[in-house]
Amino acid sequence: MKTLLLDKSQTKTAAEILRRGGIVGIPTETVYGLAADALNGGAVAKIFAAKGRPMDNPLIVHIADFSDIEKYGLVKEIPDGAERLARAYWPGPLTIIMKRSDVIPKEVSAGLDTVAIRLPSHPLARQIIREAGVPLAAPSANLSGSPSPTTAQHVLNDMDGKIDAVLDGGACDVGVESTVITLATDVPRLLRPGGITVAQLRAVLGKTEIDPAVTHMLEEGAEAASPGMKYKHYAPGANVVLLKGGDSAYIDYVNAHADDRTAALCCDEDIPLLNVKTLTLGKRGDYAAQAHILFDRLRQIDDDGGITTVYSRLPSTDGVGLAVYNRLIRAAGFEVIELEKV
Ligand code: TXA
Ligand code: MG
Repeated sequence: MKTLLLDKSQTKTAAEILRRGGIVGIPTETVYGLAADALNGGAVAKIFAAKGRPMDNPLIVHIADFSDIEKYGLVKEIPDGAERLARAYWPGPLTIIMKRSDVIPKEVSAGLDTVAIRLPSHPLARQIIREAGVPLAAPSANLSGSPSPTTAQHVLNDMDGKIDAVLDGGACDVGVESTVITLATDVPRLLRPGGITVAQLRAVLGKTEIDPAVTHMLEEGAEAASPGMKYKHYAPGANVVLLKGGDSAYIDYVNAHADDRTAALCCDEDIPLLNVKTLTLGKRGDYAAQAHILFDRLRQIDDDGGITTVYSRLPSTDGVGLAVYNRLIRAAGFEVIELEKV
């Protein structure tokens, strides 16, 4: 199929394609989504085919207004915590999991009794949802396993010829996918860190658990609270290796292993000290900037052809740093070298 490249004035065309059961790449403030009418199981199935996504991995349902949850009857009931979270952080990079109703197609819920709902803050995303007149199911618009797309060009690189259209809304602001929290458990539980931090969640909800899969590899045979967390993810073709240790230990290790097929994913401050090709995530300690650029940098590694190994410092888990940590540790297949012990 031919994939249309739409500009930001063409939201009505995108909405029309979606209403007719097509699939369209749309900008959000986190990453680009690959959208379909969330109430049309046949349309949603096309998303899985285009991405090569396992059918047991459920999708997020995107709405344009909080009242859409009741308007479309998406959930059994709205938990008290959801209303408070929505008041504090919606529209924005937060996805809330609740007990689903029967209107949610099995393709969206992947057989679970819950549904993930998000109200994005990107004006074009909300406009397309409103113009389509249906909620939109949308995973990130990358091939399954690849870094999420943060520009329309990234979407085309992965999806050209496989989807009906992509609407170009420029580069995404946050750069990593939304924070995912479930309110379907006794105690609220963070399943995926993102632009809304653990501290922000706790400020509204009080006690909030962090699922072990946020920072650790799932044990063999363990059931994933969020199915997406069990798959190798965000991985470029090259091998990503995380190094745990102080600044100078990192520099020394990378320089000792330097060759022309090696690169460093580093901070601005490291560039003059490293003897390998560098890909910077920005100023040290600026976690929001790191999140914003991370996936673009992971894609650049592959654009560069000859690179086979990329060394990165193990990121901090503070604030939005936890989202960067969570993505990088998956990109590295959980491989961390502790420099003190080398
Ligand atoms: O920022 C975002 O969330 C982007 C944009 C497009 O909105 N979307 C996104 O979707 O990242 P996706 O499909 O790539 O990631 C959704 C994650 C997956 O890990 C999935 O397993 C989990 O959320 N998820 C979805 N529904 C769930 C449910 N009912 N229970 C547990 N986990 C769920
Ligand atoms: Mg994804």
